[in-house]
Amino acid sequence: MRKQIVAGNWKMNCSLEEGQKLASEVMQLMLDEVQNETEVILIPPFIHLSSINDQIPFKDKLLIGAQNCHQNESGAYTGEVSASMIKSCGGSHVIIGHSERREYFGESDALLAEKINSVLKNDLTPIFCCGERLESREINTQESVVGEQVRNALFHLSEEQIAKVVIAYEPVWAIGTGKTASAEQAQEMHAFIRKTIAEKYSNETADTISILYGGSVKPENAKEIFSQSDVDGGLIGGASLKSRDFIDIVQAFD
Ligand code: PGA
Repeated sequence: MRKQIVAGNWKMNCSLEEGQKLASEVMQLMLDEVQNETEVILIPPFIHLSSINDQIPFKDKLLIGAQNCHQNESGAYTGEVSASMIKSCGGSHVIIGHSERREYFGESDALLAEKINSVLKNDLTPIFCCGERLESREINTQESVVGEQVRNALFHLSEEQIAKVVIAYEPVWAIGTGKTASAEQAQEMHAFIRKTIAEKYSNETADTISILYGGSVKPENAKEIFSQSDVDGGLIGGASLKSRDFIDIVQAFD
């Protein structure tokens, strides 16, 4: 059985006070309502990691993660944060290669491969993001684009290492736009990603990797998307900033 995961990427939102309030609402709603086995991950800005970690009394189903990390362990990299620092603040997951990092901060596949190594070396779980832009979807090249992103950033890993990676398919045209991929489009791409991994490694390994969908997931569309056989959960942006919506998405697995 693959792990079902719902991760909330807060992006650059929330003051400390707002973040703490959001985290405590999510915790309370989880205690009161959530009965399924979904792993829930809160991914606040770096600066809130430690205090939000201290707020969470139960670490079995509610975890925290970071939105990015530097590829090196330490050193003269002003303004950067390493995977080991994230770990020391209680983080267990790190998003790598979000399309906003690729687009606004020029992160290349080669750099992402190094970041993945650093995350794994620190025994954290990378949530590796991939996804095509609208131009590619329009000319039907989405599979070659996503296949290349996956190969370039992950295929240097051993079979044991890749089994520890979570993948998030996030079509760039669906992020923050209100346009969601249809459940069929998500399923098709998730199956393609799994097949790409199976061809390089094995069916067994490909079958253990959780592949999340991201891009305008809301309580209204989560159920249909999560019901697809190769969709193992979601990476949620906008809707993760509202505790009620976020928990309704977690409940979409029931
Ligand atoms: P969105 O963002 O849910 O606001 O579209 C998803 C993401 O960027 O991870």
